[in-house]
Amino acid sequence: MATITQATSAVPLTKNQHLLRWVEKMAELTQPANIHWVDGSQEENDQLCQEMVASGTLTRLNEKLWPGCYLARSDKSDVARVEDRTFICSLSKDSAGPTNNWENPYEMRKKLRGLFRNSMNGRTMYVLPFSMGPVGAAVSQIGVQLTDSPYVVVNMRIMSRIGLPVFKEIDKDYKRVVPCLHSVGMPLAPGQKDVPWPCNPEKYIVHFPETREIWSYGSGYGGNALVGKKCFALRIASNMARDEGWMAEHMLIVGVEDPDGQKTYVAAAFPSACGKTNFAMMVPPEEFKGWKITTVGDDIAWITPDEQGRLRAINPEAGFFGVAPGTSVKTNPNAMATLSRNTIFTNVALTPEGGVWWEGMTDQPPAECIDWQGNRWTPEIAKKTGAKAAHPNARFTAPAKQCPTIDPDWEAPTGVPISAIIFGGRRAHTTPLIYQAFNWSSGVYAGATMGSETTAAAAGEVGKVRRDPMAMLPFCGYHMGDYFRHWIKMQRSLSMTPRIFHVNWFRKGENGEFLWPGFRDNFRVLKWIVDRVHGRTRTKETPIGWTPFYEDMDLRGLDFPRETFEELQQVDRAAWKREVIDHEELFILLHAHLPPELVYERELLICRL
Ligand code: GTP
Ligand code: SPV
Ligand code: MN
Repeated sequence: MATITQATSAVPLTKNQHLLRWVEKMAELTQPANIHWVDGSQEENDQLCQEMVASGTLTRLNEKLWPGCYLARSDKSDVARVEDRTFICSLSKDSAGPTNNWENPYEMRKKLRGLFRNSMNGRTMYVLPFSMGPVGAAVSQIGVQLTDSPYVVVNMRIMSRIGLPVFKEIDKDYKRVVPCLHSVGMPLAPGQKDVPWPCNPEKYIVHFPETREIWSYGSGYGGNALVGKKCFALRIASNMARDEGWMAEHMLIVGVEDPDGQKTYVAAAFPSACGKTNFAMMVPPEEFKGWKITTVGDDIAWITPDEQGRLRAINPEAGFFGVAPGTSVKTNPNAMATLSRNTIFTNVALTPEGGVWWEGMTDQPPAECIDWQGNRWTPEIAKKTGAKAAHPNARFTAPAKQCPTIDPDWEAPTGVPISAIIFGGRRAHTTPLIYQAFNWSSGVYAGATMGSETTAAAAGEVGKVRRDPMAMLPFCGYHMGDYFRHWIKMQRSLSMTPRIFHVNWFRKGENGEFLWPGFRDNFRVLKWIVDRVHGRTRTKETPIGWTPFYEDMDLRGLDFPRETFEELQQVDRAAWKREVIDHEELFILLHAHLPPELVYERELLICRL
């Protein structure tokens, strides 16, 4: 049995017998040196950060330039989500579906028990309670993560609501708690010196959907380790949502306020590293005086039909785990303001002044810095070797409440009403900047068949087009065909269905350059979407959906010729015929579970082409 230290943090902070017994059992399995019950206080956080500075995991940044900020450098083998090591272990393989890795849950438990046995030797096990969604809200969910990573604790403190208020909630009601066991998988022998970023080459990110459990082994990075995010709020929550009639989606949520004060909320699903954070914090171009964008969330939306038959969405998170490279005062000033204090940076470069830097942060790189692997970096070295100062999937962990555009209702327990849903991939060709789906089921078809080029957010090849239905390919915790059925079925609980749109910021011209300026200019597309929602603008019909007239696109202040717009909006029938054949691959894969509506939608699309 683990030795319990006399520290106050060793005193259990719950009376819930079920939880106490589980912690005891897991401690028996993993054999940590100490158990620390996380209260979530500032003092506790400061203490943990201090310890991590001493152990070399964190570097404190210059307090004048970056107050309350730290830098972490991960092991170079542990820099992104590992999709090929992520498992959905449902009782039957068919429930996980062909897009998920599956193993028999009995076998997997046996394997995991072996891996976790003594895996916390020499380390502290933190008992970290967290609430996804505001503490106590009816739609919120509670998890308890047992982890041997203090880095995870301080990051989860930013990303979710943690500590005493959550223990209180657990003790107050019988609320189901999702047990999450996490270990970096590097036990310490007596006297063995630790490394700054412990992890294990063998990684397992495992979900048991029926029993609502998460077991994560071997990684300390991002979505692998901050289990509230993708593991819970998407993979486990998508199972809860299907069973209970709501939706757990990989979506940002924004409010658009027009000069008359009318507010319209929109949710948008783009795959990892395809622009959600940027879109969620967008500043409209100068010319659009009186228009305001507010941020509710940048990555995950839990969406529930209300009594009036309207979809309402909450952001279950409390922070942003955003891509650092490319973020600048020009591209995303709100993100820059948000991350200016109390932020943890991972795998960015360290400047001689004790600040941080990444590619794209400034036009002029620093004369020298320490790169994400701890080596000296200069622009000259970069030119010669191609070395990046920051890893392409370097991230900032920043509190949402620090965002200048945070929506006044971002923590409203009943969420905000959603009037439009946008799907969008990263496509160099074929897909136009914007189109509107004809109706709910053709919109579901557009989302279900979405293609996107892979990015650095996951380990593996970058730039390859793959089908990423609703941006959920790596995050749907059950059979993708059943997930489409759930989407189709949701319409029945709605009296006001949101309009559905598809966007692509990444279409390229013949010279290989992006055709559309993107970033804040995406506001022009968003404005058209809001106009459509309120029936204020016309459309042109194409085989794939309704598109804007050049004249109706608000391009004031932007020199954007009609020819470029037509090129950007072009629906090339030959290319689309090939595209529909590409859709077939997914349909064959999922066929037994596909809702008939999507098969009909495909037939209709083929006819229109
Ligand atoms: P995750 O956190 O992985 O889910 O990513 P995300 O969807 O929030 O993506 P994010 O906003 O962080 O953007 C990822 C990358 O896309 C960055 O390198 C951005 O610079 C780039 N990007 C974002 N918006 C645009 C755009 O409108 N046009 C172009 N060309 N690039 C963009
Ligand atoms: C994503 O990959 O979509 C992310 C980053 O938001 S992670 O939390 O690592 O999943
Ligand atoms: Mn994401």
